[in-house]
Amino acid sequence: MKLEPWAAPLQRTMQLPGDKSITHRAMLFSVLAQGPMVVRGWLDAQDTRSSLNVARALGVSVTQTANGDLVLHGPGAAAMREPDEVLDCGNSGTTMRLTAGLLSGLHGIAVLSGDSSLRRRPMARVAEPLRAIGVTVLTRRDGQAPLIVQGGPHSGGAVRLPIASAQVKSALLLAGLSADRPVQVAEPVRTRDHTERMLRAMGADLTVEGTTVTIHPGSVRGMEVQVPGDPSSAAFWAAAAALMPGSRLHLAGVLLNPSRIGFYRVLERMGVQITMRIARQEPEPVGDLIIEGGALRGVRVAGAEVPDLVDEIPLVALLAARAEGESLITGAGELRVKESDRIHATVDGLSRMGARIAELPDGFQIEGVPSLSGAEVDAYDDHRIAMMLTVASAIATGPTWLHGSESVAISYPEFFQQMHSAQRGAG
Ligand code: S3P
Repeated sequence: MKLEPWAAPLQRTMQLPGDKSITHRAMLFSVLAQGPMVVRGWLDAQDTRSSLNVARALGVSVTQTANGDLVLHGPGAAAMREPDEVLDCGNSGTTMRLTAGLLSGLHGIAVLSGDSSLRRRPMARVAEPLRAIGVTVLTRRDGQAPLIVQGGPHSGGAVRLPIASAQVKSALLLAGLSADRPVQVAEPVRTRDHTERMLRAMGADLTVEGTTVTIHPGSVRGMEVQVPGDPSSAAFWAAAAALMPGSRLHLAGVLLNPSRIGFYRVLERMGVQITMRIARQEPEPVGDLIIEGGALRGVRVAGAEVPDLVDEIPLVALLAARAEGESLITGAGELRVKESDRIHATVDGLSRMGARIAELPDGFQIEGVPSLSGAEVDAYDDHRIAMMLTVASAIATGPTWLHGSESVAISYPEFFQQMHSAQRGAG
């Protein structure tokens, strides 16, 4: 795809697609629910379609109302259907890891697989703690998918996770609903808490103390889920606005859960003017963000804040590439095991465009430069890299050729269409 630099700053109000993490959860949790799960404003993208298909294969009936809401009637935990075929999780780590936990209560076996990227990603991190609470889970020898889960009685108990992963935490909490005794999950640092919020709203007996979550076995009921705009998708526009002085971008109806907005806190530290207006708090904080572009300064990102912006770190690298001074991002080794090795993919793309960026084992060292130049770059079939490089191309001198642009369909199918209309509006 040939991408041209943008002619003028971003001055508009934008609506975002539904949050991916919350959409996945609403779809998958409907399997266990008694009574319907009604999902409004859901993200319709390849990743969430993977979760919807898995939910169907486990016995959920899916209908859609005239205004697009999903109505999901699950079989309930006790009547979960043993799937006839391999459950195809596509490119989605969230689908695979959450489903591994969900299947703990199945009377029977299920096989989980996905595309070549997903089959390279680490699954021992979810298989091992599930085994520790008595679930039978098999992986390939290297800890990768396909996975086999044999559901049935499992003991439950306490687990301490060595890696900060909301997906793994969620799998254990789902397994806790069908365990013999409570499941207690201790995380090294807090990660996104959508599973805790949604399961509690569905009636689960769940408590949180610091970084430890305890869930008691029991049933859950269906609920209405209003899916807010995705702050990770909003981040591409926020970054574009931050990079273009004179921009004023209004992002409406965005999920503002503190465990998801680390990127916006980092933007503020870099000198970007951000106004946050929270409209409601429960069951998830939602509101508007107004972002004004200006001069950027270098930043440090490390440690416990990383999970709050884990999917946005390639964008921080882009901002840092154009900021005044040096930036250092560490403690982000998890980026190497996402849909691509995002540390390598980011360094490759941005350095081709003239950034001064060095790869660290767990992050980046970046020296800001006054401008980036168009180049031929590769998204490594990774939706977030494709969108980050597109934003980079918007502020570059000269055109950029992007390989792998079609990967945006994983999380944001309307991305390029919205970009073209934003450019026309700006231009
Ligand atoms: C997600 C958790 C994060 C994140 C992913 C979505 C979730 O993954 O990167 O995009 O919905 O729970 P990890 O659990 O691997 O950190």
